[in-house]
Amino acid sequence: MGTRRRRVSVIHFISKLDKWDDPGMANISNSTQVEINKAAQALKDGHLVAFPTETVYGLGADATNEKAVRRVYSVKARPTDHPLIIHVSSINQLGKWAIDIPEYAIRLAEEFWPGPMTLILQRGVVAKDFVTGGQENIGVRVPAHPVALGILSEFEKYGGFGIAAPSANRFGAVSPTNAHAVKEELGIYLQPSDLILDGGQSFIGIESTIINCTGDYPTILRPGAVTTEMIEGIKGFKAPMCISGSTVKASGSFQSHYSPRAKVLLDVNPEPGDGFIAMSDLPTPKGAIRLANPGDVEQYARDFYMALREGDRRHLKKITIVQPIGGGLATAIRDRCMRAAAGD
Ligand code: TXA
Ligand code: MG
Repeated sequence: MGTRRRRVSVIHFISKLDKWDDPGMANISNSTQVEINKAAQALKDGHLVAFPTETVYGLGADATNEKAVRRVYSVKARPTDHPLIIHVSSINQLGKWAIDIPEYAIRLAEEFWPGPMTLILQRGVVAKDFVTGGQENIGVRVPAHPVALGILSEFEKYGGFGIAAPSANRFGAVSPTNAHAVKEELGIYLQPSDLILDGGQSFIGIESTIINCTGDYPTILRPGAVTTEMIEGIKGFKAPMCISGSTVKASGSFQSHYSPRAKVLLDVNPEPGDGFIAMSDLPTPKGAIRLANPGDVEQYARDFYMALREGDRRHLKKITIVQPIGGGLATAIRDRCMRAAAGD
């Protein structure tokens, strides 16, 4: 992959921030603020900016700039009828993008934003076909990473409405959870005026929970770190939840997605030379190559995509995964395991 790296034109690294969950507390250094301002300006000028979020890294473009958004599709090699998620700095920006927002969606936003949750809503006039893939709905999220929030507020100060950002990987491939992985995935497809920001390892490690809020009650289209149990735990929140197939198009809900090049097998004994991902209480079978050793489900989610990438980096033919058990985040991890395994 040496050629790939040499062809990367511009990379801006900013200092690592390790507090994703409490942006108010995050210590953004002056140099980081300078890079954030540069990134916001680059977006306003129509360039692409890959940036950290607490879930995975996103490839961002001004969501109202058709040319920039089209470049996101082409850099990702993503079919243009697959909608992009709009990222905004706070719930106050929601009205710019969505209309007829149900009461229960506001409750969800108040409860879980900033955070790993995307709401699918009726689109407003600002949301054009080129970003919604022609759908009447729009996905909106307020990310919890201080760098992402910094870029968003700065971008909005310049008059920006929101940043369209899919995960910063080629279509169908594993989402990147650090800047190095973004560079590896997309470096050769980016231009000198585009930027990749380094905000350290994504704290959650798998993509946001997607909740369809266009019906009478919410349904989860893609499980994530905002779990069914957490939603049902909201006081007075009785709306039924289910993971549903739907007429709404979510590319992440395709069978084959989030897949490494290696063949992925679930819950079988690995053969010697296979990659192996399992909780730390399971010893590594003889001859298998341990790719992750998480002590709990949170760590499992954080390590998962890195481990799949590591398997590919080592040119392994097969990766065997022992899936985590239980509800909550484990449900979301099993969803990604299943999709990774459906890859061939
Ligand atoms: O955590 C995340 O959600 C990350 C970070 C960067 O925010 N983003 C992300 O975006 O995972 P993407 O595009 O890789 O996956 C979003 C999924 C896609 O499957 C897309 O089809 C679906 O959300 N989606 C986006 N907008 C939608 C809409 N209006 N209706 C239905 N599905 C939508
Ligand atoms: Mg994606």
